[in-house]
Amino acid sequence: MKKDVDSKLDIYKITKSEELLKYYQDWTKKNKYNQDMVELNYTAPKETVLLLKKYALNNKCKILDAGCGTGLVGIELVKNGYFNLDGVDFSQNMLDLIPKDIYKKTEKIDLNKPLKFETNIYDAVMCVGTFTYGHVKPEALEELIRIIKNGGLICFTINEGIYEKYGFDKKIEEISKKKLWNIKEFFKSNYIVNKDVKAWYYLSKITK
Ligand SMILES: C[S@@+](CC[C@H](N)C(=O)[O-])C[C@H]1O[C@@H](n2cnc3c(N)ncnc32)[C@H](O)[C@@H]1O
Repeated sequence: MKKDVDSKLDIYKITKSEELLKYYQDWTKKNKYNQDMVELNYTAPKETVLLLKKYALNNKCKILDAGCGTGLVGIELVKNGYFNLDGVDFSQNMLDLIPKDIYKKTEKIDLNKPLKFETNIYDAVMCVGTFTYGHVKPEALEELIRIIKNGGLICFTINEGIYEKYGFDKKIEEISKKKLWNIKEFFKSNYIVNKDVKAWYYLSKITK
């Protein structure tokens, strides 16, 4: 029987950006988002940073945390010795909860639109917890690849419930056919453990 991921969390019902922003506005009150991530045992920040560490051996590398939220991935990156970090997200309420001294720069940006960044500027992009219901669409992957240097890395998660439904499987195949990357790691693993939601984890080397 097919697993019903759609009904695991209320936020999975949201389809419009305005509703999503409102949801995050409420979720960030009294630091509730960060507390919930601990309670739900959200493992993606730790797991993705460990993955990146296997390939990004130079801790000076310039990393963009795309959909950085409250900075959980940034905090994990700093713990692991990376310090040249920028963060972008479209919810100001989430950005407001980032602790000081994690990112060099943070910016409010919609990842579903063309990015204003120049081409080939980052050594790595992390996009964690952001390819999920009603959030960032598969098309964003090509824009993220555009801003990564040749030989750089992209590491991301895709919620198992939307992998095929939103066409991530097809977009990933298309990118591979265009030879824009070499997939180094690809597996399904724990994500939101206490709700039994898993995600696909990817790490690819950019080969454009
Ligand atoms: C589940 S949170 C994950 C945040 C962080 N990466 C983490 O792992 O804790 C998803 C984030 O994606 C952001 N987001 C959703 N849609 C977005 C969009 N179109 N552009 C940029 N950020 C978006 C939300 O504001 C939220 O901060």
